[in-house]
Amino acid sequence: MFITLEGIEGSGKSTQIGRIVKHLEALGHSCLVTKEPGGTEIGEQIRALLLDPGNSGLDTMAELLLYEADRAQHVSRVVKPALNAGKTVICDRFCDSTVVYQGEARGIPPAIIEKLNSLVLGSLRPDITFLLDLPPETGLSRAWKQIDSGIRRQGESRFEREKLRFHESVRHGYLVLAEKEPERIRVIEADQPEQRVGRAIAEELDRFLQQS
Ligand code: TMP
Repeated sequence: MFITLEGIEGSGKSTQIGRIVKHLEALGHSCLVTKEPGGTEIGEQIRALLLDPGNSGLDTMAELLLYEADRAQHVSRVVKPALNAGKTVICDRFCDSTVVYQGEARGIPPAIIEKLNSLVLGSLRPDITFLLDLPPETGLSRAWKQIDSGIRRQGESRFEREKLRFHESVRHGYLVLAEKEPERIRVIEADQPEQRVGRAIAEELDRFLQQS
């Protein structure tokens, strides 16, 4: 089973991944947690390039191709082997991030992104995706608190430095995507205490497991 988490900056994905793993391991699943960008050693180097606030001059198409390069490495070296070995893979961000950040927010035509995603993924798609939804003002203020307190790295703040309008279009893009694919993408209200977010995810997950 392949589970992905999506959402704007500060939506609480990492915290919720820990809870999902606990929940699934208690049900007997063997889990592998991974992320994009940076789910491989080579991907970590690509991540550093992509998130460095000093790289504000990065061309939009170069940005897209770096995310896809990271994904190609990650899918072939980590995701597919783990799925083939029967593991449940839980990934912090995946192809929907590209559709929304590089497509909706940066303005690259969706057809180009779909083509690249298909090239890199083949028939692989997440079985279920949790979209942690909250207002960008709230997410950004959480994210900056984490950066200022050292929980998140200053050196990875290129996207947090984008204008509020950018983050609003990311949120909008995600919600449009969720409307198109309601079966796969489950929208979770993330502007509430983390235990309640965790319970909402666990309920959706249990429902999904019963159906499959
Ligand atoms: P995060 O790992 O802390 O969530 O940061 C990753 C950043 O990269 C985040 O701002 C979203 C962005 N991103 C894209 O723009 N496109 C992508 O395809 C992915 C995977 C992430």
